[in-house]
Amino acid sequence: MSRLVIDGLKRLKGETEVQGSKNSALPILAATLLNGDESILHNCPDLSDVSGSVNILRYLGCDVAFSGGTLVCNSKNLNKNHIPNSLMREMRSSIIFLGALLARTGSASMCFPGGCEIGPRPIDLHLKALSELGVVINDDHGVFKCHVPDGLHGAKIALSFPSVGATENVMICAVLAEGTTVITNAAREPEICDLADYLNSCGANVSGAGEGTIVIEGVQSLKGTSHTIIPDRIAAATLLAGCAATGGRIKLNKLIPSHLGGVLSVFEESGCDVSVRGSSIVFDSPHRLTAPKIIRTMPYPGFPTDAQAPIMAMAAKSKGTTLFVENIFENRYLHVGGLLRMGANIKVEGRVAVSQGVECLHGAEVEAMDLRGAAALIVAGLGAEGRTTLDGLKYLDRGYEKIEVTLSSLGADVKRV
Ligand code: EPZ
Repeated sequence: MSRLVIDGLKRLKGETEVQGSKNSALPILAATLLNGDESILHNCPDLSDVSGSVNILRYLGCDVAFSGGTLVCNSKNLNKNHIPNSLMREMRSSIIFLGALLARTGSASMCFPGGCEIGPRPIDLHLKALSELGVVINDDHGVFKCHVPDGLHGAKIALSFPSVGATENVMICAVLAEGTTVITNAAREPEICDLADYLNSCGANVSGAGEGTIVIEGVQSLKGTSHTIIPDRIAAATLLAGCAATGGRIKLNKLIPSHLGGVLSVFEESGCDVSVRGSSIVFDSPHRLTAPKIIRTMPYPGFPTDAQAPIMAMAAKSKGTTLFVENIFENRYLHVGGLLRMGANIKVEGRVAVSQGVECLHGAEVEAMDLRGAAALIVAGLGAEGRTTLDGLKYLDRGYEKIEVTLSSLGADVKRV
């Protein structure tokens, strides 16, 4: 079992590029089932969650080739509409395949995706919305069998919560439905816009993505296309947090700064100098950070829940107190244990955490319990005196493409052993 070994307090400097977005690639990979044709996806990150999606696509009969950041998927020979438990378990967000299978084949069956480390991850919003499009869902002892007896038809869908996954599942399912679908209280994340761009480049008719209301005019069929996946805004935030934890100065290239709105203001509040230059950010951090006062995670364009853990690690040794309120997931403070071992002073009460900044963190043997928690422990290790070893890299590799290589290129002393 490999682990990361980090010798901290090396100021990060230099420049690097940001990987393609995991949370954009995953729904688009599911949507490649729709066109029965070839999709060429550029800037696709090489992650275990992407491999999980590729395994599902291949199992369903698609031809998939992936090299040098370009993934080519041809869904012409799709010949199944059931996803086995083993493949569902591999990836929490595999529920996103449901809408695509229903739109392409008219029926689908899969088991309820397991919960994951950060919470039970219910799918009630997905199932309710799909049933409004004409999907009949039978729960057969944990395996749900879906079919569309009278075909898919447009509907007015009001999401009770702007769920990213539910918004994506409805978009993917509705593009081939008969008539118009209107989604209100839709998620507004940049990954929603990227999915809409991919679908429209296949010939769909999706408008309003990125706003609260999305309108989809169903079309008869879709065709192949090529699409470039947007940069990963959470990977970018993680690299900036790592830089800030070391008092470093870096330049990040190939990103979309406007996607980082909710996070850049926190870095500035912490005393970092952020200068946006087109698709790059020049980032300079002080020797000691000022603690940001309050971090409330919210749906986009609020502060992203996925950045809460790396930012908490950065704030752990800042000057002052930070209040965290995690409004999106039930159990997203799994990284606090590791941070405490490294000398942080953090108290958690339900969805609230209070971090009293300490003068310095010290290296320790720590273990990741979830994806963004792994990133947090790396950020803390970069800013800690001495050596940190990090276990649990299976979580890290779900969402970060060779982050130790990227950090080493910026002057960090981090090795995978
Ligand atoms: C997506 O998850 C992302 N994953 C998550 O990133 C991200 O944290 C989340 O959106 C919020 O931005 C992917 O895109 C693959 P939600 P998703 O549906 O779609 C509740 C990462 O670290 N809910 O917006 O699952 C749910 O329990 C991952 O990259 C229901 O109650 O998020 C949660 O509390 C983690 N019923 C809240 O809504 C449902 O049917 C937000 O979930 C669906 C969701």
